[in-house]
Amino acid sequence: MGEAAIIDGKAFAENLRARVAEVAAGFLEKANRKAGLAVVLVGEDPASQVYVRNKGKQTVACGMESFEHKLPVDTSEADLLAVVEQLNNDPAVDGILVQLPLPGHMDEAKVIATINPDKDVDGFHVVNVGRLATGLPGFVPCTPLGCVMLLKDKLGSLSGLDAVVIGRSNIVGKPMAQLLLAESCTVTVAHSRTKDLPEAVRRADIVIAAVGRPEMVKGEWLKPGATVIDVGINRVPGAEEGKTRLVGDVDFASASEVAGAITPVPGGVGPMTIAVLLRNTIVAAHRNMGLEIDESVL
Ligand code: GUN
Repeated sequence: MGEAAIIDGKAFAENLRARVAEVAAGFLEKANRKAGLAVVLVGEDPASQVYVRNKGKQTVACGMESFEHKLPVDTSEADLLAVVEQLNNDPAVDGILVQLPLPGHMDEAKVIATINPDKDVDGFHVVNVGRLATGLPGFVPCTPLGCVMLLKDKLGSLSGLDAVVIGRSNIVGKPMAQLLLAESCTVTVAHSRTKDLPEAVRRADIVIAAVGRPEMVKGEWLKPGATVIDVGINRVPGAEEGKTRLVGDVDFASASEVAGAITPVPGGVGPMTIAVLLRNTIVAAHRNMGLEIDESVL
């Protein structure tokens, strides 16, 4: 067995949701209504359906209103944009999330651009991407924000640490790099064309793996004592015929022998995403109503 401390994202997320629920109760008193999160799902992708169901349940459990819009897979882009516009104009809706991926006949960038940036609790709108890049208050994508929360909880200040982010997606890799830069890390963004990935990982005090390749990052690549955050969720064949199991982008068995601390899969980063979404939603509700909120408790 490995030496690394296990970073318990499930416990952290439960705690965060309890703090959100307290702030949401305060919002209800001040605003005379619950904060509201609208989720739009187009089509019947089974993984997306599971996410959306869990989002709805956890939203209600935190004392907020959940609005679900389930549209058939052959919905036109124009009809989806009309739903988004209606949510933009609905005062009961504080946060809007359009579940990705969208069916192939839709332009995701156009749909995201239609969301009011001040209700964009996913932080995907270019206005929020720009706010993050320039240090203005806005909304930050949930998964990378959850990763930084776990890192700060474990390490305290991240200032001056070397971080490598493996992956350059708009949802995780790029915002992750911006957040770590804002925490005064020295950031390397590695990707499929990086010449010597093990060498880049070897220099890092913090390793963020977000590539979607099962167990790619090996223990022998790591600097001893490094903190490893595994964003991967990959389903691979299990030991028994016909069974599958979930693994991350990090080879947990070897990495936990070398790392100082590591997130498991499942139970690490995964549970953080919805908790941070609820956090972003209660922040949006306060900001958009002009109400004070102590964001430091969240
Ligand atoms: N699909 C997978 N993750 C996400 C997410 O965080 N937000 C949205 N909108 N879609 C997703």
